[in-house]
Amino acid sequence: MLIFNNQNELVAHLAAVSKATTNIGFVPTMGALHEGHLSLLRAAVANNDLTVISIFVNPTQFNNADDLAKYPRTLEADVAKIKTVSDKIIVFAPSVDDIYQGNTVSESFNFDGLEHQMEGQFRPGHFNGVGTIVKRLFEIVKPTNAYFGEKDFQQLQIVKKMTAKEKLPVTVIGCPILREPNGLAMSSRNERLTDTERKEAAIIYKILKESRKLFAQKSAAEVTQWVQKSFAKHPAFALEYFQIADEATLLPCVRKSQNKKYRAFIAVFVNNVRLIDTISLN
Ligand code: PAF
Repeated sequence: MLIFNNQNELVAHLAAVSKATTNIGFVPTMGALHEGHLSLLRAAVANNDLTVISIFVNPTQFNNADDLAKYPRTLEADVAKIKTVSDKIIVFAPSVDDIYQGNTVSESFNFDGLEHQMEGQFRPGHFNGVGTIVKRLFEIVKPTNAYFGEKDFQQLQIVKKMTAKEKLPVTVIGCPILREPNGLAMSSRNERLTDTERKEAAIIYKILKESRKLFAQKSAAEVTQWVQKSFAKHPAFALEYFQIADEATLLPCVRKSQNKKYRAFIAVFVNNVRLIDTISLN
């Protein structure tokens, strides 16, 4: 398996092995890989001639130094997991210096308002960091198709917006959320939960599924109130936000419209671990 730590070496290798017609599938990650990431890799391998995965904990998208410091870094274990999908996958695991060349700052993007909702309200600067790294990685890898999980649905919409606005020739593909047997959405952050917390965190998806049922008869405001009350009964979980929003604009749903697609978005703290999840409502 080829592992590159340096962008110039990766670029030279890709130039040597690909022709104009070679489809490159790309899966950007921050490592601590789980089945969700492996499902993205499987989709990339099945639909492209070459697959590249990046493993890079991107400092500019963290608005909390403690979260950045505690983010799991497990390169050896990650490589072993990638090999279970295919040993032909190319791994790009650069250093912060290789990517940022001594200037670890974000570009400033305009994502047409997508960045002001939900994660944007609670994680200032986060999406400029995501936009910066994804754009840079797209420029290095030059993928045909790039695969992102729908758990980070807001990120997926923002990456699609950035790709269109910057006119990057990449097709951005959203892939379904993978869940643990109890319904908890797979996430690298789940590693930081205790066994008990991980079991109890099943409540997040249960409440999301119930909110989908309720939304068939009730308003977004009524469903939101019900979710807030439900979490108040579980003091181990601190609800940061629950929002029902239009899938395309991410604007909050004030009054339901028949021809719009809605989605519920949630962020919850369990101890100091922040978990997010989402569900399509109609
Ligand atoms: O979703 C993630 O893991 C990250 O935000 C991404 C897209 C790899 C950018 O650092």
